[in-house]
Amino acid sequence: MTSPSTDQRDLAALPIGMFDSGMGGLTVLHECLVTLPGENFAYVGDTARFPYGEKSREELELFAQQLTAFLETVPVKLVVVACYSATSAALPLLQERFSTPIVGVVMPGARAAVQTSRYRRIGVLATEATVASGAYPRAIHSLDGGAEVYQQACPGLVSFIEDGDVASQALADAVRGFTAPLKEKRPDVVIMGCTHYPLIAPMLQRFLGRDVTLVNPATEIALEVEGILQRQGLARADDRVGSYRFYATGDVEAFRTIGARFLQMPLTRVRKLSLDALGTLVAP
Ligand code: DGL
Repeated sequence: MTSPSTDQRDLAALPIGMFDSGMGGLTVLHECLVTLPGENFAYVGDTARFPYGEKSREELELFAQQLTAFLETVPVKLVVVACYSATSAALPLLQERFSTPIVGVVMPGARAAVQTSRYRRIGVLATEATVASGAYPRAIHSLDGGAEVYQQACPGLVSFIEDGDVASQALADAVRGFTAPLKEKRPDVVIMGCTHYPLIAPMLQRFLGRDVTLVNPATEIALEVEGILQRQGLARADDRVGSYRFYATGDVEAFRTIGARFLQMPLTRVRKLSLDALGTLVAP
């Protein structure tokens, strides 16, 4: 018979699972690699169905369940929903239906924003799906019922960044257009509520101005994951070097090339994950 401590050790050795609509979640993985260098990671990018920011709640619920079901087959010790749109649409449903612990990116960023904001005026930049879900106002108000929350959807912004554009005039014009109405509300803290936005943080800071503190929820989720693993006795020792594997539902070579740019590290183990296989795990 296996002792409980052996079980715990076996569990600690399992990778942390993570999924996103595509490459953007690699900004979340990056923060986790910095904070948790000894952990193993299994990352799924649903590039065949990117972008999630324009999808309906029903679609996102289905995709999120399929990807979580897949990660459970890997298996993993914890699932991080690295996509803000998927977290906003599906996190409570996932937590209800799956036995693996699951964390999302919305609450950690909301908590950091509430803790940081002196004037209790919090801005949120996010995709249309995330804004429509109301997940950020709900999360912020559960922590501070009196905080003012100003959401700004940024349709199309991720496409620039996904295509590698972080500095063009067209991107700057789009960012100016999205930040101007938010700036009028005079927030002192703005949450970058989408996987891709930390990659243009300097531009956002320039348009929002010196008085605004930008919150990168990816940093917060990494700390949250660290806390959970330590409290549950599931952390892997930091003196080990973690391993990483990747799965993409779209083109594997494109994932390898663009992903290396997002993560600034070579992506060696990338495997194809077919939508048909996901469909057998959770049917539409
Ligand atoms: N990963 C998505 C999010 O964080 C952004 C990209 C997309 O629209 O799929 O909301």
